[in-house]
Amino acid sequence: PVEHTLAVIKPTAVKEHKGKHSRTCIPSLWISFQNNCGPHSYKILMKETNFTHEMATQFYKAHEGKPFFDQLVNYMSEGPSVIMILTKENAVEEWRQLMGPTDPDVAKKSSPDSLRAQFAQDILRNAVHGSSNKDHALKSIEYVFGESLDGYSSICP
Ligand code: CMP
Repeated sequence: PVEHTLAVIKPTAVKEHKGKHSRTCIPSLWISFQNNCGPHSYKILMKETNFTHEMATQFYKAHEGKPFFDQLVNYMSEGPSVIMILTKENAVEEWRQLMGPTDPDVAKKSSPDSLRAQFAQDILRNAVHGSSNKDHALKSIEYVFGESLDGYSSICP
């Protein structure tokens, strides 16, 4: 079944890869999954957003209380992220496969072609985020996008 997932390109990845691609708002790490675009693949809605501290706290509520939570919230609000709704069959699981494991050291061993293996600095600054399941996906899409999709541009039409 066609489903949606929420994907985020995190601040360090946006900063590092910005401008290296002709679509200025799109980090060049985009190129890695550009090949997945097309009629049988992801439909993508995206926009650049700088998470506030408050938004990041809300967005990562499930991790509240964990030892890295404050670091995570600070990091996510330190600069612009690219937020995307990805739509395709089995989008949640497929995007997770494309990202690879949370920890880039693990990713480099188990899935060297994954986005995190290639673009993450460390377990905190791990380049990309993706919803962990369909329920989380719908909740975060609703939270981040609100009721309107104004301001988002569509690529891979
Ligand atoms: P993400 O998939 O966005 O979900 C939660 C985030 O918390 C994770 O990616 C990392 O950015 C961060 N994170 C998870 N585990 C750790 C950890 N042990 N130390 C620091 N940050 C972490």
